[in-house]
Amino acid sequence: MRAHLGRTPRPVNKSQEKEHIENLSSDDDSVHFIIEYQGAKVGHIFIGDLEKEYGRSHVGYFIHPDYHGQGIGTKSLKMVVTYTFETLNRHKIRGGFLEGNPASRRVMEKAGFQEEGTERDYKYVDGEWKNVTWMSILEDEYYD
Ligand SMILES: CC(C)(COP(=O)(O)OP(=O)(O)OC[C@H]1O[C@@H](n2cnc3c(N)ncnc32)[C@H](O)[C@@H]1OP(=O)(O)O)[C@@H](O)C(=O)NCCC(=O)NCCS
Repeated sequence: MRAHLGRTPRPVNKSQEKEHIENLSSDDDSVHFIIEYQGAKVGHIFIGDLEKEYGRSHVGYFIHPDYHGQGIGTKSLKMVVTYTFETLNRHKIRGGFLEGNPASRRVMEKAGFQEEGTERDYKYVDGEWKNVTWMSILEDEYYD
């Protein structure tokens, strides 16, 4: 799962991970949600870059592998898209998936995102550079 996220290619210990999570909850530039399914905490979805000019925002998400393929990612993304446009009044939401992650592409397509283009050698993961493909949805596309 981590390979698809492309976190920085350096080792992280438990206290660094804890500090990272605590910093997320005090960050005004992003909103983080825990995804619950039938009472279990199964994933995380966030919207970031909220204070940037022009009303752009960025979405990222992951689901625990035991819960893949049950529509949870799609439902979570659709809920966050609704929240971003209808509550936060953003103009655009962008997401990206690394090469070799067709499930993430599909989830964004099902939530109404369109492909924008591919950025080369975006992240270095497990010894190789990977391209990212950017997808997005605009507010008028959401309301159509
Ligand atoms: C991407 C991710 C969030 C999807 O979550 P999920 O709850 O399994 O997603 P859903 O069940 O809603 O939908 C998955 C879709 O991908 C499709 N899919 C899954 N594996 C696929 C593959 N190898 N090739 C093509 N499509 C695939 C499924 O068929 C489904 O589409 P469908 O409903 O049209 O059949 C989950 O796989 C994940 O957490 N991956 C690791 C972290 C990650 O990649 N995060 C995103 C970073 S951009």
